Parts: sequence; structure tokens; C-alpha cells
Amino acid sequence: MTSFGPARSFPATRLRRVRATDWRRRLIRETAVTADDLILPLFIIEGDNVTEPVTSLPGVSRLSIDRAVAVAREAHALGIPALALFPVTDKKLKNPQGSEALNPKNLLCRAVRAIKAEVPDIGLICDVALDPYTDHGHDGLFIDGDVANDATVEILVKQALILAEAGCDVVAPSDMMDGRIGAIRTALEKGGFVNTMILSYAVKYASAFYGPFRDAVGSQGALGAKGKHTYQMDAANVDEALREASTDVTEGADLIMVKPGMPYLDVIAAVKNEVNVPVLAYQVSGEYAMIAVAAAAGAFDRLAAFQESLLAFKRAGASAVLTYAALDIARALKK
Ligand code: PBG
Repeated sequence: MTSFGPARSFPATRLRRVRATDWRRRLIRETAVTADDLILPLFIIEGDNVTEPVTSLPGVSRLSIDRAVAVAREAHALGIPALALFPVTDKKLKNPQGSEALNPKNLLCRAVRAIKAEVPDIGLICDVALDPYTDHGHDGLFIDGDVANDATVEILVKQALILAEAGCDVVAPSDMMDGRIGAIRTALEKGGFVNTMILSYAVKYASAFYGPFRDAVGSQGALGAKGKHTYQMDAANVDEALREASTDVTEGADLIMVKPGMPYLDVIAAVKNEVNVPVLAYQVSGEYAMIAVAAAAGAFDRLAAFQESLLAFKRAGASAVLTYAALDIARALKK
């Protein structure tokens, strides 16, 4: 009941009127996806002029640094604000401590320096976690059957500083240790890296959807049945997601990530409602694979499905989305 009388029903109200033509639909659209919303993840490998397709991620390849620089140039030209870089570490360099993470000349640091030298205006985001470097595949030190929290945090702090020193703009702890955001923030301040942002993978679920990523970077290791359930979140929980997000904001995170994305749109909306920092979402490898593989099998149109999925993230409240389809979407937007 409004002050103008009883609510009108059909035929006074015909909702199809607002959908009848293209201009009407464009005029009333509540959400939009632009290139500004996209973050492109890249897998980096050793070598020169190497493009190595990832079998479980159709359309995605591991790239040598020179190829990554070329892609960075295209991404920048398309208006994509930032890249997220993931190293594929040589097996010989992996050990239980993940010590290659602290080598200032490791593959990731060299990639950061090369891209910053050639494409200085694209943002670079780097994971802070040990899984690309440990032979067991865990995100930290594996001691007595579990990942040791505090000892891992000490290493992550050093890893974050090395990445900041290399020129990484955004350090993104994806390890789910407690207390690491505060420790990293303190160290960055002390080191003079006052403008280095922290994107906390604050709400990261122990998910089956990371499978193709672990294939891409070779981090499946010997995770075993227990997987990462003692540090990554239980898929059943939302209240805990809100605690994780607000804790990390208090400790100094500039941006919060929810991951995976599409199966967790409710969590994105809830976290967005809880914290007053931008919330990012990760359309993770398994989500990408579901769409890419189904499209390749003729089930639906690839680009339309990706565009619709990105709109869903925006509707849920995400400020930006990490997606392996970022280039495809940005190219389509440019047309
Ligand atoms: C590692 C990390 C993972 C992803 C991003 N960073 C995998 C994991 O935690 O095992 C997954 C991304 C994807 O699936 O696309 N800390």
C-alpha cells in the first residue's frame, strides 16, 4: 500500500515493458562489468619464449618471463588494472622449508622486475605462501603432521618483504595462517614500504575447485587426504568468514578476498556487508575449467557464460575479480 492507493497489479504493472528494447535494458541496468574490474592471473615458468598450455585449464598457458611481459603489455592496453603472478618452481628447487621463497632472485621476483621495467603502470599482485616452493605442497612449514602457524608467519613476513623489494605492488597472503596480516603490515612499515598494499585472502575455503591450479604450478605435492583443512576454511561456514575478514582488516589489510567465487556468492555479499574495505573475489581454476570445458564441449557460448559469471560477482558486491578469462572479457569489452 503506497500513499497513492493500493499497489497496482497486472495489467497496470507489466514488467516486460522495461525489457522491451535494448535502450530500455541498458538504461536501467543495475550492475556493469568493465575492464577495471578484472585481474588476470599468470603462471610463470623458466625459459625463453615458452608458452606451455595447462591441460586442465583450456586456454591458459604457463609463460616464460618474456612472454608474460608481452601479455602484461596487452592487458595494460586493454585497461586491465592488475596481474596476479604465480611461479611454477622447478622441482629441484623445492624442499620441506620452501626456502626458494626467500631467494630475492627467484623466478617470481625476476618476473616482477621484468614486468615493472617494461609495463610500469600495471599493478602486480603476488601470493605470499610457501606452496609453490615446498615439496609437500603445503602453504607453510609442515611439522608433526600439521602446518606450524607461528613459525610459518615468520617466513611469510620475509617473503612479503622480498616481494615488496622486487617491486610487487600488492602482497597477497593466501596461506590462512593466523596473525600474518599484522606481522606483515608491521614489517612493511618498518621497511619503508608504506604504499605496498595487502590483499588478504582472508576468506579462503578448503576447496576442490583449486585442482587445476595445483596442476598448473605443480603444488599438489603429497597433500594427502587431510589436504589443507586445518588452515583453509570449512565450506559450511559463513560466520567464521566474517570473523576472518574483520580480523584481517583490523590487522591492516587494504583489500579482502573471498575464494572460491561463484559457489560462494552469498559469502561475498555477507563479507561486503561486514567490512568497509573493498572485497575481491577469485573465480578459481576449477570454476574457470567448468565453464571453459563445458563451452568447448558445445554446451553453451564461452564468452556469454564468462560475462554472465562476472556480472554475478559484481551483483554480489565484489569490487574486482581474479579470472583466467580476463583477457577474453576485456577484448570483448573493447569491441
Ligand atoms: C596457494 C594458492 C592456491 C590458489 C591460489 N593461491 C591453491 C591452494 O591453496 O592450494 C588457487 C587458485 C585457483 O585455483 O585458481 N596458496
